[in-house]
Amino acid sequence: MSTTRFLTGITTTGTPHLGNFVGSIRPAVAASHTPGVESFYFLADYHALIKCEDPLRIQRSTLEIAASWLAAGLNPEQVTFYRQSDIPEIPELNWLLSCVTGKGLLNRAHAYKASQDKNLAAGRDADEGVTAGLFMYPVLMGADILMFKAHKVPVGRDQIQHIEMARDMASSFNHLYGEHFVLPEAVVDDNVATLPGLDGRKMSKSYDNTIPLFSSRAQLQKLIGGLLTDSRLPGEPKEVEGSALFQIYQAFATEPETLALRQAYADGIAWGEAKQLLLERVDQVIAPMRAEYESLMADPARIERTLLAGAERARALATPFIQELRHAVGLRSLVQVAQAAPTKTAKVAKPAFKQYREADGQFYFKLLAADGRLLLQSTGFIAPKEAGQAIARLQQQGEAALADLAGQLAVVAEVTAQDVAAALQALRADD
Ligand code: TRP
Repeated sequence: MSTTRFLTGITTTGTPHLGNFVGSIRPAVAASHTPGVESFYFLADYHALIKCEDPLRIQRSTLEIAASWLAAGLNPEQVTFYRQSDIPEIPELNWLLSCVTGKGLLNRAHAYKASQDKNLAAGRDADEGVTAGLFMYPVLMGADILMFKAHKVPVGRDQIQHIEMARDMASSFNHLYGEHFVLPEAVVDDNVATLPGLDGRKMSKSYDNTIPLFSSRAQLQKLIGGLLTDSRLPGEPKEVEGSALFQIYQAFATEPETLALRQAYADGIAWGEAKQLLLERVDQVIAPMRAEYESLMADPARIERTLLAGAERARALATPFIQELRHAVGLRSLVQVAQAAPTKTAKVAKPAFKQYREADGQFYFKLLAADGRLLLQSTGFIAPKEAGQAIARLQQQGEAALADLAGQLAVVAEVTAQDVAAALQALRADD
């Protein structure tokens, strides 16, 4: 069975909260242990720049998110865990993809359209405050995914469109330049809970209603104490439906424990008591990870080393792949100039003369074998015409001209006179 490659990015803005843990960290760590699955997780810090212009926050968030994932059990030996900005091949691919992505496709991106709609509704210019980075966000994301030939991309619903765009980019590129990219698929897990926040709305940094994943126990107690409940008194039966407290408890507890709390609600448990149960249950899950988190945060050099080791593994794939892609689009060495696709009879590669000017201002030529190997190397000529004349003599007279030109030719190691003679012969036979 071939392995399936999963890849997902985590934007490095903000501090991880319980919602992130339940919705993405915990399922991703669990999935990384599945046999037959190869996982790539990375810190999307280039993406973070689109949303955040505070360098200290970017750095701090990268550190906290890396420490959180590692503390939550992500094993960097088992998965490839890296920081996007350590992979220079990604911005390079971003450009290659930009050149095959229709602007119209990007115009339709939800996030971009939402910014425009907001501006228009406020009577402003549609693009006010919209950076080219925001507009290009889906292309950078495409580069993240296509670079590593990911099959599956676990994301939230709001990201599905981006995966579809990455597929479009991959198809366009493959159509133009040959089959280089794997077409990725979004994976949305409907079973993972979306946690409510302190005010009952979805837990989200933008609502400022989060419980940080690694708050101290005291802070956790304080935040849970402030969790929105209704005004029912102790002894009055309570609703589990719509109870943020109940939903958070459920995300951390076993099924029997959840059933027991449901019963306690019906029996009129006091809110204070329910909050105490929630605190104990959450803390039981978090406490062991918290110790590891704190030890990681106290040793950022260890996190840095882990990320650099991950980047090295990622680049072992990215570096040769970007070379392949560069070649595919025609960003190639000039030493072996490819002929346009032959129309009738296939042309065989031939030896060739190359003329060029060096930084010293002199003019040089060399003779390359059909396979690109260097056969002859001239010394410098003051005028291009002299170099041209020497080439012409070699072309017309073949090896007979070698003796006369010996003073203008530098010795090339490991090239035999026969090699040179054969190449010159092949050139003459041609015209
Ligand atoms: N845009 C994603 C988010 O906000 C983060 C991300 C960046 C990502 N690059 C990615 C997710 C590549 C999956 C694959 O959640």
